[in-house]
Amino acid sequence: MPIAKSEYLSEVWKDGLFADRVVFCTGGNGSICSAQVRALVHLGANACIVGRNPEKTKTVAQDIATARPGSKVLGIGDIDVRDPERLQSAIDRCVQELGGIDFLIAGAAGNFLAPMSQLSINAFKTVLEIDTVGSFNVTKLAMPHLLSSVKKHTSGPPSGRIIYVSATMHYTGAPLQTHVTVAKAGVDALAVNVAIEYGPYGITSNVISPGPIKDTEGTRRLSAKPRSDNKRIPLGRSGTVKEIADATVYLFSDAANYVNGVVMPVDGGAWRVGGGNPGRDFEYPDFILSGEKVNIKAAERKPKTGNSKL
Ligand code: COA
Repeated sequence: MPIAKSEYLSEVWKDGLFADRVVFCTGGNGSICSAQVRALVHLGANACIVGRNPEKTKTVAQDIATARPGSKVLGIGDIDVRDPERLQSAIDRCVQELGGIDFLIAGAAGNFLAPMSQLSINAFKTVLEIDTVGSFNVTKLAMPHLLSSVKKHTSGPPSGRIIYVSATMHYTGAPLQTHVTVAKAGVDALAVNVAIEYGPYGITSNVISPGPIKDTEGTRRLSAKPRSDNKRIPLGRSGTVKEIADATVYLFSDAANYVNGVVMPVDGGAWRVGGGNPGRDFEYPDFILSGEKVNIKAAERKPKTGNSKL
């Protein structure tokens, strides 16, 4: 369904800013990443989004394509960033059908709330594998194309740029989020090292760290009730996906030509006062001490077989 431009992009950007450029995005069917890609497509880019759910990925791609008549947006499902072979097949298809990869958004992530006492070894490992290893996998596999992009495009819109979508909770630590804080700290470290090792080749690598963003899958999945503590956000409100998309456009545009290795929170200043804490529906430390199970969306979890919990 076409979405009004005002929902995902500010008026300050020039049409055609990313003409003739291609963005490859993992986690592209999610609320935040789809807004990022939609904004780039509106401004002239073509795109390939990949995700695990085939139907959702295809539908979101078709939807993003409505942002600009004539755009090409591929939606490739059944792609898990933990599986390099499947990821490679999606990258190959993107290059074949769209002509290359100029921008990469590494956005695939996994999350749920669980205190460490209820976090199995496999649960911890799973989130690290999706967020951190998955970001490395796509960086490694897309890099040859990003490097070609830098060589090929000596004029026109920028090329060879990467944005990692991270979080802010690891700046302070957060209850019920050990797996995510560790994983996202790794994502930030990866982004910085990419900046250092590939900057000399003309690649830029930066991080966007969304704070509390309203109407996202993350908010729905991780919050039992609507956020009521906006007073703890310096700007007094949750953010919007449009604000993440605007930050994305900035980092991929000529305006950010000299910005490399930066971790950019887009959170209204929330993490400075601990507002990035996603365990907000659970009184700290009472909930930890209670030993209660986190029961958000418990019904969505797969039934367990065997005895793998530790
Ligand atoms: N609490 C505690 N442990 C959980 C959990 C929860 N809510 N959800 C999953 N796990 C555990 C599983 O029990 C399993 O561990 P075990 O084998 O020791 O029992 C482990 O995590 C892997 O779960 P599984 O469902 O097999 O992995 P998956 O790869 O299919 O799913 C997840 C990945 C775990 C991240 C899942 O939450 C998911 O698919 N989420 C949807 C995507 C998402 O999170 N998007 C981000 C929005 S912010």
